[in-house]
Amino acid sequence: MRIDENRLRFLRRYFDEVMFSLIDFRLSLEAPVGPTGFPKYEQLRSVIARLDPSSQTIARLFRLGEPADATSVEAIPPAVMDAFATTGLLVPDAAGWRTPNLVLVPLEGMLVFASVPPSYPTASGPCSVWFDLSSYVIARALPGSLAGARVLDVCSGTGIQSLLCAARGAASTLGLEINEQAVEVARINAAMNGLGASIEFRRSDRLAGLRDAERFDFVVCNTPYAPVLENDEAPAGPAAVGNSVLFGVLEELPGRLSEEAGGIIATWRSIGRGASTWQSERLSSHLAGKGMSTVAFQDRAPDNLDGVLRILSTDLEPRLGAARAAGVATAAARVLRDSGAEEEGFFNEVILFRRSPSPAETHVRRLRQSGAPAAGQNVKGA
Ligand SMILES: C[S@@+](CC[C@H](N)C(=O)[O-])C[C@H]1O[C@@H](n2cnc3c(N)ncnc32)[C@H](O)[C@@H]1O
Repeated sequence: MRIDENRLRFLRRYFDEVMFSLIDFRLSLEAPVGPTGFPKYEQLRSVIARLDPSSQTIARLFRLGEPADATSVEAIPPAVMDAFATTGLLVPDAAGWRTPNLVLVPLEGMLVFASVPPSYPTASGPCSVWFDLSSYVIARALPGSLAGARVLDVCSGTGIQSLLCAARGAASTLGLEINEQAVEVARINAAMNGLGASIEFRRSDRLAGLRDAERFDFVVCNTPYAPVLENDEAPAGPAAVGNSVLFGVLEELPGRLSEEAGGIIATWRSIGRGASTWQSERLSSHLAGKGMSTVAFQDRAPDNLDGVLRILSTDLEPRLGAARAAGVATAAARVLRDSGAEEEGFFNEVILFRRSPSPAETHVRRLRQSGAPAAGQNVKGA
């Protein structure tokens, strides 16, 4: 792909002119976004089939990741086709033209390219440019204004959170991401949305790509769920399960923050512990020790213990082999059962933190299950 700022901006104007975001919103009323962050393929396809032929071509190419034949792409003006071909956002294919395994997602005024979701039959490669429901969740948790802030986006994926921070006034935004293709696509996304000048994306394992003097006023950190365990060993306790990328980031992060800093951290499938979770307590007590207070919004995750153990085994097997992975998974299962994970359930949580003169307490907000008592109290003193 090629970062050609002028052509990418021209393409953004084209997507606005064909009302891509509006049409996507209308489609979403009949084919809503599911837990994967995307509508079900067949459902979306059947609504798209009712669009006019020219909108159908755009939606099939950029929402379904389908190829379009030479006759269908005649609906796209030649200058636009030239810009798609030059930037590499459409590539020739036996059937005509298609994206390089990308779909286009509208969110909060931005348009970002992300990998075709693995659940779609059109996926033609690995899901390197990650986007899912968590991306929507974090986008909704961002502050309305970040005027003048130096922002760090850890595990930036498509770059959507960086783009939103830049659009909300950040003075500078740096996205760190381990996957090279994601870094390339994030740069395309920034340029296409006219934000390339204030955002930088670097390839980086956790915070390794930071320079010595770099400090930040706001951090957004939507890390992956896997690898689930630190060190690929049996966990010492329930707090050691989950989001090991995040736990590594947390060690170094406080030293990178300015005096007035704050941020957003997400943890997925955290293990319930009364009115809070083991992971939230670990995280908030770590941050409290660095002078920061936290507020967590916890939402019941759809996962059960068997599902979490399945994810754990799938994550471990490629690294440890089947026999060792089974041993670690059995030990993890014991730890989780003993901690009451089956009864307490799993939670997805978004945690806001900021420097505070009295950082000793975590406030938990929780969407309770019907019939269960609400949590909404201060749950711990550090
Ligand atoms: C849940 S996605 C979040 C993407 C994006 N921030 C968003 O909200 O849409 C997690 C991202 O972390 C990246 N990642 C995984 N391990 C990483 C690591 N060790 N260092 C940096 N990025 C990593 C993945 O490639 C993926 O893009």
